[in-house]
This record gives sequence, structure tokens and C-alpha cells, in this order.
Amino acid sequence: MQTAVIPDSWRGVTPAPISSTDAYNGFIAANVIFALDRIGVLEQIGRGEPLSAAALTAGSGDTARTEAVLRAAADYGYLKADGAGFLPTEAGIEIASARGYFTWAVGGYHDVFGRAGHLSTGSHRYNEDVYRDEAMVALGSAQCDQSLFAAQLTDVLSGIDFRTIADLGSGTSARVRRVVSQREGSRGLGIDISRPATEIARADIAAAGMQDRVTAVRADVLGLLGTQIDNDAEAAEVAEVDTVMSFFLLHDLLADPTTRSSIFTRMREAFPKAHTFVLGDTMLRGPGESQSAMPVFSVGFELAHAMMGVPLHTKETYERLFADAGLRIDRVEALATPHSWLYVLQAD
Ligand SMILES: C[S@@+](CC[C@H](N)C(=O)[O-])C[C@H]1O[C@@H](n2cnc3c(N)ncnc32)[C@H](O)[C@@H]1O
Repeated sequence: MQTAVIPDSWRGVTPAPISSTDAYNGFIAANVIFALDRIGVLEQIGRGEPLSAAALTAGSGDTARTEAVLRAAADYGYLKADGAGFLPTEAGIEIASARGYFTWAVGGYHDVFGRAGHLSTGSHRYNEDVYRDEAMVALGSAQCDQSLFAAQLTDVLSGIDFRTIADLGSGTSARVRRVVSQREGSRGLGIDISRPATEIARADIAAAGMQDRVTAVRADVLGLLGTQIDNDAEAAEVAEVDTVMSFFLLHDLLADPTTRSSIFTRMREAFPKAHTFVLGDTMLRGPGESQSAMPVFSVGFELAHAMMGVPLHTKETYERLFADAGLRIDRVEALATPHSWLYVLQAD
């Protein structure tokens, strides 16, 4: 097994303590970045192209409000004035490549973070009064996948002989579509519990004309691991899966302490033909890691899951659970997102 190289992106860069002024501006800036993405201009910013509120709202939209968002983005240094419009700065190009984090945090978890105090006092309960936006969580993950992990996963999969691949917790199915389109003769199955994410997945699969090669299944992976799937055609596809991948879902599957130790054994049983498991997840930081300077993502990820009552686990715990299920580590690599690891496991 090779020694893992830790990418620069794991390095803490935000000094703690964060002053009240920086915290306030960081909050507004995160919302401005998410607004730029919803307006649909972050790709343009990522390419360094000129933009203006008038042009962005020529077909529809509110020019004055769009102008206010662009001005705020200029105040934060992401754009600079250029005649009647704006030009992206280097910082603007950088935030465009990191947009998935903002879709995840602001789009997906704004209610959870905004109600962290209410959840802590017990006046509000998660999944009764406070919800995450599942479609935004899935979209943010897909954006991170595209900009941060795609090339690495392509490299990892190039060494794996697969014909039918399943992605567990597949979100918008963007990853499974890409993986299947890169491998001639392969088929893919994206399985996700979320109705909105599965609706996006089905629409995107149809738009890409890939219905004959990729199927989006709405199912609870835990149910799939425990019982039979009730749709015969989908069950037949599951039976053919030779490679299983799953990214940023495992911590949810491991949440229940009573089933935690059996999850990977049940995963093997649910996919009896699967020989290779390509699994990635964000793990709990070790004690003392990133104490005085914070990297992107880690604190938000840990806080969101604490608010949802989902415990997180260390790398050592994952590796022990893999070993207990007879899954041998063939390859382990650090992903670009801090404290996130990718494993290629072989079923012996
Ligand atoms: C953080 S997102 C990751 C999405 C995708 N794997 C990616 O990397 O872009 C986690 C996904 O797992 C799904 N999920 C959570 N619990 C699940 C379960 N028990 N069964 C199936 N999907 C689940 C969520 O709906 C969500 O789309």
C-alpha cells in the first residue's frame, strides 16, 4: 500500500480566533457566493469573463437586486468594476472553483446552522422543526466532485475492471453518469434516499440521453442492505453489480451504533457479485489537528452533523470496520476536502 500524500487544501488558513468583524463579513460573503451561483454567474466568473446585472437579467430577473449582489461581491474583492459591469478577480476565480462548499453550507444547511442554538436548547428538533435542504446538499456535493475529486476518481477507476457499478448515496447521479460515460460497455446504478435528489438525477440522466445505461433508484441504502428491493428490474440490476462506490454517505450509514459493526458485511451481502468497493468519506479530525488555523469545511461538517445527531468516526474506526468485514485495503488516498479519504477495498 502506498503512503498517502496530504494535499495543501487540508492546511488550516483561517486564523482562530476569528474577530467579530471577520465573522460577520464571512457570513455575508458566504451568502453572496451562494447568491452568485443561484443567479447562475459563477461559471462565468470562474472563466474570468466580464459580466453585468443588465446582461444577466436581460431575459428575466431583477436588475437592481442582481446589481446589489454583484456590488457586494466587488466589495469582498471577487469582482472589480469595469465600465458599466464587472470583471472577475483572481479571488473570484478561486471562489468559483470552491462553490460546492457554499451550496452545501448555505443552500443545504442554512436552517441547521441558523437554528443551532434552538437545537441546543431543545426548543427545536432536527427533522421536526429544522430541516436540511437535501437537493442542495446533493448539488453541493456534486459540484465538489466535479471541481475537486473527478480527476482523482478517474485515475483510481482506470485500474479497476468494472462492468456494472453502483453508487450508494448518489445524490444527483452526476458521478455515476460521468464514470459510466468514461467506460465503454459499462452500466451504472445511482441509489439515493432523497426524492428531490433522485428527481434531479432522473432528469439529468434523461437530458444526457443515458437512460439505457444509468438508472436512478430512490431507496434507503440501509433497507437495501437489510432486505430485498421490491422492484424486480432494479433488483436484477443490483444482482449484477460488480463494483460499489460510495462517497460522503458512510457516516450516515454508520450513525446507528446497533448496526454499525455489520454495515460493511451487509453491503457485501447486498451486492454478492461485487469484488471492489471504492469508498470515500470525511472523517473526524484527530485530537489537536487544526487548532489555531482552520481549513475549509471541517468545522461546518462537524457542527452540522452534531446538530443532526449523527456521530462521526476516525480513520482508525473506518479501517477497523473494513477489516472486520473482510475488506482488504488496496489503495488509500487523501481527497482534496480536508480529512476526507478515498479507499479502494477488495473483497477477499
Ligand atoms: C453528502 S451527499 C453526497 C452525494 C454524492 N455521493 C456525492 O458525493 O456527490 C449524501 C447523499 O446520501 C444520501 N443518503 C443519505 N442517507 C441515505 C440512505 N440511507 N440511503 C440512500 N441515500 C442516502 C443523501 O440523500 C445525499 O444525496
